[in-house]
Amino acid sequence: MGKISEVIPLHEERKYRFDTLSIHAAEQEDQNQALNSPIYMTSTFTFRDLQQAEDTFSFKRRAYVYTRGGNPTVNLFEQRLSTLEGGVDGVAFSSGMAAISSVVMSLTKSGDHVLAHRNLYGSTFGFLNNLLENYGVRTDFIDMTDLNRVEESILPDTRILYLETPTNPSLEIIDIAGISRMAHERGIKVVVDNTFATPVLQRPLELGADVVLHSVTKYISGHGDVVGGVATSRDFDYVQRLKFSYMCELGGVMSPFNAWLLIRGMKTLGLRMERHCSNASKIARFLKNHRGVEKVLYPELEEHPGHELAKQQMKGFGGIVSFELKGDRSMAEEFVKHLSLIKLAVSLGDAESLVEVPAMMTHRDYPEEKLHRFGFSGRTVRISAGLEHPEDLIQDIGESLDSVYE
Ligand SMILES: Cc1ncc(COP(=O)(O)O)c(C=O)c1O
Repeated sequence: MGKISEVIPLHEERKYRFDTLSIHAAEQEDQNQALNSPIYMTSTFTFRDLQQAEDTFSFKRRAYVYTRGGNPTVNLFEQRLSTLEGGVDGVAFSSGMAAISSVVMSLTKSGDHVLAHRNLYGSTFGFLNNLLENYGVRTDFIDMTDLNRVEESILPDTRILYLETPTNPSLEIIDIAGISRMAHERGIKVVVDNTFATPVLQRPLELGADVVLHSVTKYISGHGDVVGGVATSRDFDYVQRLKFSYMCELGGVMSPFNAWLLIRGMKTLGLRMERHCSNASKIARFLKNHRGVEKVLYPELEEHPGHELAKQQMKGFGGIVSFELKGDRSMAEEFVKHLSLIKLAVSLGDAESLVEVPAMMTHRDYPEEKLHRFGFSGRTVRISAGLEHPEDLIQDIGESLDSVYE
């Protein structure tokens, strides 16, 4: 499945495959020949004399100055991640939300309009729906799985089409290539949050998106010990502007220590995604046959409305499974109470499987009475399938469901 290319075109003679690049891209020989690149845990960099400082500040000399403007460990992370996404360079941020807010602000000004998919991570919805309005930028939320609806909703002052795919938490699939064609005919930029898929499963820049961003807190880290974000693009000038005029001036900078943890986590990204996907697939198929489950939202299932599209634009269906329980919303509460292995927590993409109830937790910014319009409900449960043995996960889920629906 999936047309995603195995070899990533680099600006180098030699072309390597994804799993090799996730370990080696942008590596440089260390002065002490250390295998792993050191952590440059420093806020500032020294100058030999004032002349050297002046040459640096007047761009006659290229050198690091201050970690908010650039740091070797952070740069290695940015370059490695952007290579995996097929971008020219990346900008690391202190969180996924810092990446999202900076990217949206870098592409809009007062009076502009953003068109976004109706189902997004809760704080992204909150930022676009509440905060951005204070700066004169309006957002409409529509169903972007319907390309006609997108076309009808574009306004003369629309500057961005913003989406996640698969979406959080409904796992809807949006046609990135179709959206990008429509946007580019009108000079509009397409921004894709690729957190759920990762570049292992989907590379939006290859499909035409202008900017790809991530909460690297999730699969890119993979170990639940980092909060961070990143954005990348094929447009070098844009990346420079995002780095120096937005990340640097708004100040959402990534710590070098976090960049180092991310570099370490990325080495196993391909391997981890295989296991996340196969565990999620087994969980989805188990849930589908349980009497307490009304509907399973997982794009691998043939009945999922985005199944065919996911097969085309992704290389696997991802590690997240959402499902609707039968009965009322108290069933979700009962279900999570009876789990013992799977932990009740926000976030996803960790080695540990996690469960949450979006309407009561991460997606509280959505108006409760209109939840169905956004593709989920108070009975929607989201599981991030970790790396544990699938039979242990299924046993935990099965025992919990059995005690709720006995
Ligand atoms: C799809 C998606 N995008 C963005 C974010 C925000 O990222 P962060 O928590 O790193 O700010 C999240 C967080 O859960 C997410 O799930």
